[in-house]
Amino acid sequence: MAFRHLLGLQELPKEDIQNILKLAVTFKDLILKPVKKVPTLKGKTVANFFFEPSTRTKTSFEIAAKRLSADVLNLSISTSSVVKGETLLDTLKTIEAMQVDIVVIRHSVSGVPFMLSQKIKSVVVNAGDGMHEHPTQGLLDLFTIMDKKGKIEGQTVALVGDIAHSRVARSNIFGLIKMGAKVRVVGPATLIPRDVQKMGVEVFTDLESGLKGVDVINILRMQLERQKKYLFPTIREYAMLFGVNSKKLKWAKPDCLVIHPGPMNRGIEVSPNVADGPQSAIEEQVTNGVAVRMAVLYLMGGGKANEVTD
Ligand code: NCD
Repeated sequence: MAFRHLLGLQELPKEDIQNILKLAVTFKDLILKPVKKVPTLKGKTVANFFFEPSTRTKTSFEIAAKRLSADVLNLSISTSSVVKGETLLDTLKTIEAMQVDIVVIRHSVSGVPFMLSQKIKSVVVNAGDGMHEHPTQGLLDLFTIMDKKGKIEGQTVALVGDIAHSRVARSNIFGLIKMGAKVRVVGPATLIPRDVQKMGVEVFTDLESGLKGVDVINILRMQLERQKKYLFPTIREYAMLFGVNSKKLKWAKPDCLVIHPGPMNRGIEVSPNVADGPQSAIEEQVTNGVAVRMAVLYLMGGGKANEVTD
């Protein structure tokens, strides 16, 4: 890997992305077998620090680390000394003093994983920081597209919804463009960052034209917790104009793949028929997430791309 830490897909070279995806294929085969564990990270310790709510990402990192035989420590904000007034850095230094090898961190403030990577000796993996990046989600979305479509290069991918507040959107944009996909962002103008075109994407503020001819739709949740002012009239209106249902899905290519990072707000950004329909890979994304995180932890823990032992 080009870097010791995984902070974002913006700086991750294409070659590292390819290595992670390739290794994740091996790990996906492994986790679909009855015995799912390899001893590759035996003796290493992975600490999961989640200072924001999470179901999928937290459990996914935990399962991934356990399947690599690492020792895993989970810490949530509500049960840590941060609630007693200790600074984040002091908490992390305390954990580091216990010789933790990899720290997986989610935080509501953009840049916290970067700051920690400058101050602690452990390897830092970003599990989502503010509105900045969510690199392992970006990687698992890339993996799912590769798995379902055969390749990423040349696919047209529409990211639909609250682009402005979504770290998943940013990681997707960086990763997809590096891998040769064409990227569209689709949503109300107020939820699309100004100058987003500079990232190399096409902008659509109308769902029908945005979905026309696309191979993949990545549907994003309305990040209401991050919106500081009213950016659209009502949730109902948003659902009517941008919620993807079976009728609107037909605007895309007939074999268009549907993905969503979760958690879903059914009936708002996606209808149950689409979420559970034949074009959806939403559940499979969760399985892929474990395989991708195993690949990430394995490589960040010092493993080499082409030598997985079992
Ligand atoms: C995403 C996140 O936390 O950024 N969820 C996830 O990690 N699966 C997306 C979201 O919260 O909408």
